[in-house]
Amino acid sequence: MYDIDIRVAELYDQLERDTQDVDLIQGFMNASKPVRILEPFCGTGRILIPLALAGHQLHGLDQAKGMLARARMKVALLPDKVKARIQLEEMNVTEDVWPRGFDVLILGGNCFYELGSPEEQESCVITAARSLKPGGYVYVDNNHHPEGPLSKKWQVEGVFPAFPTGISWDGTHFESTKETIWWDVEFRLIKIKREINITFADGRVAKKEMVQHKHPVSKEEVAGWLENHGFEIIALFGDRQGNLFDDESNRAIFWARKK
Ligand SMILES: C[S@@+](CC[C@H](N)C(=O)[O-])C[C@H]1O[C@@H](n2cnc3c(N)ncnc32)[C@H](O)[C@@H]1O
Repeated sequence: MYDIDIRVAELYDQLERDTQDVDLIQGFMNASKPVRILEPFCGTGRILIPLALAGHQLHGLDQAKGMLARARMKVALLPDKVKARIQLEEMNVTEDVWPRGFDVLILGGNCFYELGSPEEQESCVITAARSLKPGGYVYVDNNHHPEGPLSKKWQVEGVFPAFPTGISWDGTHFESTKETIWWDVEFRLIKIKREINITFADGRVAKKEMVQHKHPVSKEEVAGWLENHGFEIIALFGDRQGNLFDDESNRAIFWARKK
């Protein structure tokens, strides 16, 4: 979805302006000196750029050329010494080898919802452990689905407005919808059909369709993967304001240390 048109990255930045998670990460890191940070699923650099501005070395990975192009455009506007601290790499993080030797690794921005199965999500935790130095930290931030069968909230028929919808700088209009076309209650798996209608400024139109697979992940699953793959959970928050996780929480945000 992020690579259907280069302008999707601009619409992403129009929509996602919140940086409370960046403040949370900085609070967790409490770093008195610069550290090396890896961010798979880095997108347009919403998290990565402010961390580089704060003095850290950042390496971002993403498979979408359009998202990386926008990240590079934003990086190009930074002072030279900050630019020199940022490396961006095109990569499918479920297939390719992640670089190693990092102090901190960020799995932020709901990135597990980009993956279609618990196996793929768990393999990110395994790979994160390999990429970190001993004693390094991982930040994992996703919506929390309660353990057990697929919630009724996800079992909804109908066509709904979706991202990317909006107007880019050159007047291109995007109008998108999503429809859940299949679900498995027991295994908590979903297929979503997305339809993206693009009207370019010169009047040309284009229509794209795709099917995405999702596995709404639970706090218990992420905790289990972290514990089974060599991490000690240091903190578990239920929102980006820094409140502890409780029964009402709809996010599960982990800060965990590689043993
Ligand atoms: C919701 S955006 C989040 C971007 C950023 N982490 C943030 O919080 O703003 C998800 C990003 O994950 C990337 N992505 C999804 N699947 C991927 C994969 N298998 N390998 C690499 N990147 C992937 C998409 O291209 C997109 O840029």
